[in-house]
Amino acid sequence: MWFATWDVKTAKFLMKVQEVVPKPPSQEMSGLHGVFHHESFVNASEEERKAVMLRSAEVKYREEIEYPWDHYFGADLRPLLEGKTVLDLGCYNGGRGAAWYEHYGLTRLVGVDVGQTLIDAAEHMASVKGMNAEFFVGKGETLPLEDESFDAVLSYDVFEHVSDVRKTLDECWRVLRPGGQLFVVFPGYYHPTGHHLSQVTKLPFFHY
Ligand SMILES: C[S@@+](CC[C@H](N)C(=O)[O-])C[C@H]1O[C@@H](n2cnc3c(N)ncnc32)[C@H](O)[C@@H]1O
Repeated sequence: MWFATWDVKTAKFLMKVQEVVPKPPSQEMSGLHGVFHHESFVNASEEERKAVMLRSAEVKYREEIEYPWDHYFGADLRPLLEGKTVLDLGCYNGGRGAAWYEHYGLTRLVGVDVGQTLIDAAEHMASVKGMNAEFFVGKGETLPLEDESFDAVLSYDVFEHVSDVRKTLDECWRVLRPGGQLFVVFPGYYHPTGHHLSQVTKLPFFHY
């Protein structure tokens, strides 16, 4: 198809047509990665960066506490997750995982996400909350984790972003112990703005 031949230059040009620039941490806390790309975060001191990471994680933590994702399953998941070792695939800043850890009474939480800043944020949140947790940079398609090491994999709004859903599912299967469970919530893979490129451009359907 004609649009399959777009090169990166063309794509960047089109993205610029309706460009979105990240808002500063003083204005935006829940807008996912955007705030971590703002110059006032990038150039901040270690202490200031940690404060921003924590505020960002607390937004996600509160979101999850106020509307626990049990709603998506129509069931209280606590009996299935209490005392378990859980992987948070696409853990972002660690805020939602911290809420899961408390709400479900997990024994251990491991998080994976694609960027070091997110892992730093998740580690900071976990240390503030005193969690038994560990975080790794990695991708769902190639998890940097051992076989059969989790009782459950939880993933919220991540599968619509992975480049290969089949591989990601295979990886979840690989790291789950026999009898382990996968809990996934995500919007349509081909949702017009489900790609998060809306953090840099308002053009819909761009991932197509
Ligand atoms: C909409 S956010 C959801 C974050 C978090 N799960 C939450 O609910 O707060 C999507 C997350 O998926 C991560 N992500 C995107 N592609 C990924 C991949 N291939 N493997 C793992 N994580 C990925 C992003 O970096 C981002 O943190």
